[in-house]
Amino acid sequence: MKKHVIEAKQYLLNNYAQFNQPVNLNYSTKDATFKLLHKYYNIADRNLLKEGEILYETIYLSNDPAQKGWFTAATDSYLPPTPLGDPAPAQGIGRVLISKNKKFQAGEFFSGMVGWVSHNIVNPKSISAVIVDISKVSKLSDYLSVFGGTTLTAYLAAFKYSGIHPEDEGKIWLISGAAGGLGSALAQIVSKLFKPKLVLAIAGGSEKARYVESLGPNIKCVDYKSKSYNRDFRNALNGELIDVFVDQVGGSILNRAILHMRPFGRIVQSGAISGYNEVSDKDESFYNYPVVITKRLSIKGFVVLDHATEFSKIIRHLNELTRRGTLDISKFEETVAQATDDQFYKVPDLWNGIFEGVNKGKYITQVSNNNSRSRAVKL
Ligand SMILES: NC(=O)c1ccc[n+]([C@@H]2O[C@H](COP(=O)([O-])OP(=O)(O)OC[C@H]3O[C@@H](n4cnc5c(N)ncnc54)[C@H](OP(=O)(O)O)[C@@H]3O)[C@@H](O)[C@H]2O)c1
Repeated sequence: MKKHVIEAKQYLLNNYAQFNQPVNLNYSTKDATFKLLHKYYNIADRNLLKEGEILYETIYLSNDPAQKGWFTAATDSYLPPTPLGDPAPAQGIGRVLISKNKKFQAGEFFSGMVGWVSHNIVNPKSISAVIVDISKVSKLSDYLSVFGGTTLTAYLAAFKYSGIHPEDEGKIWLISGAAGGLGSALAQIVSKLFKPKLVLAIAGGSEKARYVESLGPNIKCVDYKSKSYNRDFRNALNGELIDVFVDQVGGSILNRAILHMRPFGRIVQSGAISGYNEVSDKDESFYNYPVVITKRLSIKGFVVLDHATEFSKIIRHLNELTRRGTLDISKFEETVAQATDDQFYKVPDLWNGIFEGVNKGKYITQVSNNNSRSRAVKL
């Protein structure tokens, strides 16, 4: 390939996914969910970019369960459906390679809806790009983990939606999906910033359970994949009742846990991953409505994007908490899968691993190695 030509690899949304079925990753079928496109950008061409546009390369992709919803045609969700033929939507970190936009200089990193692309040309506004300052973090991926969407969601679940004040001592919390990006951030925040009697956490596998218990004091984590799960859950509660349940999973985990809620307790529903790929059967859908009534429970769903105006304030607070050591930055674990250069084709398969629990902490795919300030912009 000529030096002034960049080969861009882009996964386009080819067919809408169904909400309760897995995406179709068999590219030889005509209803495959994605299609891989190769595009060639001649960077010697002065007219490659229109005024206001940038050419960027993606460094990191955030692997989010929510993307399953973004791949569907749902028109009644919190984001409009992505037009077929557009890059598959994904949050991530990009780097500006060439710019005709005064606010985005070549070499700068930004976070935004970069999509499943190795390179692309856009107006940064169209992907909600925001410049990030690599000198302010220990590594670029911190902008997806410690200071990313999952931690922001965890912070809002604890401080805004739990109904519990940090000074309310001795409460019992339950957190499902506790070894993932959101759950692990939440377990640490609750354990260290609130004064809980117990943070009962749920994760898949004993190794993940030990990791969650290492996040702070008063955390007990049970393995929902273990045969003794129900007994372990009851033993961990030791006859106590749950004041607040922050649930990422739904389904059978919710149906069972709700029986242990304290009257007038609160369920913060931030996710329901058990239903994102499955055809609902009796045990996977929520059927314990009578308990909501007899225990006079509140169930509150929320979406982090509704709080965009609060993000900078929350990030300032998180910065202060990590600088002071109140939150341990080393406990914001990341699982970083590799899809650099000719491995880019793996991006959808790697993302799909989130439904198999391949990650501990925040799950990220690395698409380019140009993730440090010292590297010159490679054109
Ligand atoms: N409301 C919002 O604004 C918002 C924002 C971010 C995320 N969320 C939601 O929060 C949840 C967690 O998101 P995340 O980004 O932090 O993902 P994540 O927890 O890092 O990854 C998902 C984890 O869910 C677990 N899982 C997958 N299928 C499951 C099943 N059928 N039953 C039980 N556990 C299952 C797996 O861990 P195990 O090995 O433990 O099974 C997997 O690692 C998702 O439901 C997501 O949609 C909501």
